[in-house]
Amino acid sequence: MRKFLTTTAIAAVMLGMGGLSANAEENVEVLHWWTAGGEAAALDVLKKDLESKGISWTDMPVAGGGGTEAMTVLRARVTAGNAPTAVQMLGFDILDWAKEGALGNLDEIAEKEGWDKVIPTALQQFSKYDGHWIAAPVNVHSTNWMWINKAALDKAGGKEPQNWDELVALLDNFKEQGITPVAHGGQAWQDATIFDAVVLSLGNDFYKKAFIDLDPEALGSDQMKEAFDRMTKLRSYVDDNFSGRDWNLASAMVIEGKAGLQFMGDWAKGEFIKAEQKPGEDFVCMRFPGTQGSVTFNSDQFAMFKVAEDKVPAQLAMASAIESPVFQSAFNVVKGSAPARTDVPDTDFDDCGKKAIKDLAEANANGTLYGSMGHGHANPASVKNAIYDVVTRQFNGDLSSEEAVTELVAAVEAAQ
Ligand code: BGC
Repeated sequence: MRKFLTTTAIAAVMLGMGGLSANAEENVEVLHWWTAGGEAAALDVLKKDLESKGISWTDMPVAGGGGTEAMTVLRARVTAGNAPTAVQMLGFDILDWAKEGALGNLDEIAEKEGWDKVIPTALQQFSKYDGHWIAAPVNVHSTNWMWINKAALDKAGGKEPQNWDELVALLDNFKEQGITPVAHGGQAWQDATIFDAVVLSLGNDFYKKAFIDLDPEALGSDQMKEAFDRMTKLRSYVDDNFSGRDWNLASAMVIEGKAGLQFMGDWAKGEFIKAEQKPGEDFVCMRFPGTQGSVTFNSDQFAMFKVAEDKVPAQLAMASAIESPVFQSAFNVVKGSAPARTDVPDTDFDDCGKKAIKDLAEANANGTLYGSMGHGHANPASVKNAIYDVVTRQFNGDLSSEEAVTELVAAVEAAQ
C-alpha cells in the first residue's frame, strides 16, 4: 500500500509539473543486448529512473555484442505478432523497421520537449522517418578508439602511437614484454569494428567513398588492399584463443595486464570503469592512430514499436525519461558514450568522456563525422552483413587481400 501511494504521489507531482508519467501498473518490455558488466550497470541507471516514475521493467536481454543476435530474436517476436515495447537498435535497422510500418510515433513528446533543437542531425537521420519521431536516442558511441594498458605503455616508453608505423612498433614492444599485443575476440562484428578504424586511418575521403557512398572504385582500390594488408598485420598480434571470444573478455585481458591494447568502441570504457580503473592512471584511451580528428559514430536508440493503446503512455514516458539531460549525463558516464543531446554539460564525465564529447562536436563541425559501417550507421543490414562476411573471411586467412578486394566489390553490389 505504502509503495502504491508513493508511486502515485510521484506520478501526481510529475503530472503537476507538466511531465509525462504513468500509473504504477505501467510497464515496458525492453529488448536489448546490454549484458556485459559495464553495459548492465548503465542499463540499471535507466531501469531505476523508470522505476522512480512508476514504470516497471520487463527485461528481454539477448547477449551478443553489436546486436546481431538481438535483431534475429526481434524478427521472430514481431513475426509472432508480439513486439516488445522498446528495442535497443542501431541506425539503418531502425529505418528498416519504420519502412515496414512496425514503429510507433513519438512526435507528441518530441515536440513538447523540443528534441529537434538538441538532438544532432546525424542522429535524427535515424530517429525520424517520414518526418516523424520513431526512436529515442540514448547515446553516441564511436568505434575508432583504442584502449591501452598504461603500465605496458609506460614499459614501452610511454609514447602514444600517432601513426601506423608507431602502432606496429608499440605492438612489437608488447610482444617483447611477453604479453598478447592485441586483445581481440574473433567475431564478425568485432573484426568489422577494427576494419572501421583501419579504413578510416587511410583517409576520410576513402572511408566516405568506400562505406558511405559504396563507390565501387574505392571498394576495389589499392587503398582497400592496403586496408586488408593492415588487417593481416593486426591479426598477427592476437593470441591463439581469440576465436569467438566476447569483446568484454578481451577488455578484461587489457584490464588484467595480459594484453597491451584493444581496438574497440567506447563501450569498452564501461568495462574499465566497472573494474574501477582510472583513465590516465590504469588505462589510456586514444583514437586509432591516423584517425585523430575524425569519428565513426554509432548511436544506441530505443525504437518504439506499435503497441496496444494502453501501453503507449509508458512508452512515451520512457522516451521522455531517456531524453532528460540529467539522465543523459548519468547514463552515459557509466556507459562510456557521449550524450545524445548537445546541451548536456561534460562536468561529470572523466577525461575519456570529455574527449569523446569534444571530438564529436569538432568532427560534426568539420564534416569528419561518419556513420560506422561496423555498427549499422553506414548501410542497411544487407550491405553491412555482406561486408562483415568478406572482412571476417580475410581476417581469418580464408582470402588474400587481393581476393578480399574483388569479393568486397561483388558482395556489396549484390547486396544493394
Ligand atoms: C552498441 C553498444 C554496445 C556494443 C557491444 C554496440 O553496437 O552500440 O551499446 O555496448 O555494441 O555490445
